[in-house]
Amino acid sequence: GIAACIFDLDGVIVDTAVYHFKAWKRLANELGFNFTEAQNEKLKGVSRVRSLELILGWGGIEKSAEEQQELATRKNEWYVDMIHHMTPEEILPGAKELLDSLRAAGIKTALGSASKNAGVILDKVGILPLFDAVIDGNMVSASKPDPEVFLKGAEALGVAPAQCIVFEDAIAGVQAGKAGGMKVVGIGEQSVLGEADLVVGGLQEINIQTLTNLFNSK
Ligand code: G6P
Ligand code: MG
Repeated sequence: GIAACIFDLDGVIVDTAVYHFKAWKRLANELGFNFTEAQNEKLKGVSRVRSLELILGWGGIEKSAEEQQELATRKNEWYVDMIHHMTPEEILPGAKELLDSLRAAGIKTALGSASKNAGVILDKVGILPLFDAVIDGNMVSASKPDPEVFLKGAEALGVAPAQCIVFEDAIAGVQAGKAGGMKVVGIGEQSVLGEADLVVGGLQEINIQTLTNLFNSK
């Protein structure tokens, strides 16, 4: 049966995209160009360094590697200031309930996030103890759609990838889960996340029975 569930963070457990947006927009504006919500959408699941490269490209600006490092650090300082004010009310609907019921059912849980700030965020919203393992951006070298972050999660839990279910809101993350040989639940739109084994609007639509049905399908 199902041995473990591995969760992406941003857009699945909490909605930090709004804070990333504010921080990137402030940086873009300081550099003299605009940054839109539509562009922010394209950065979901994308690492900090890669996000900056894309933003500089959209703004038509070139920076040295050293300057890019400084800009990424500046953006992260604003972002960290904002996430330090996060509260448990910011946990997305159904997330806490699902984590609780997985624990009650003896199914292990891990976080698999590209964010280097994942641990702080889980701590601030009060659900760090509900994860048996946390794999974040500090522990991986290859970005999603590479399956590394999820494979490390399975390894940390001591379970086989084929016995894991991944929860993801980004296309690259869905692809990473599939590449790792895991079942994947997409959180969002069917039209965007069609590669997932199941797509739902949010974790409130998921319970142990839906996961068991999914796991036993195909
Ligand atoms: C997640 C978010 C991305 C973010 C990345 C790195 O994948 O969806 O928008 O760029 O994490 O986050 P960090 O906190 O390390 O800058
Ligand atoms: Mg995400």
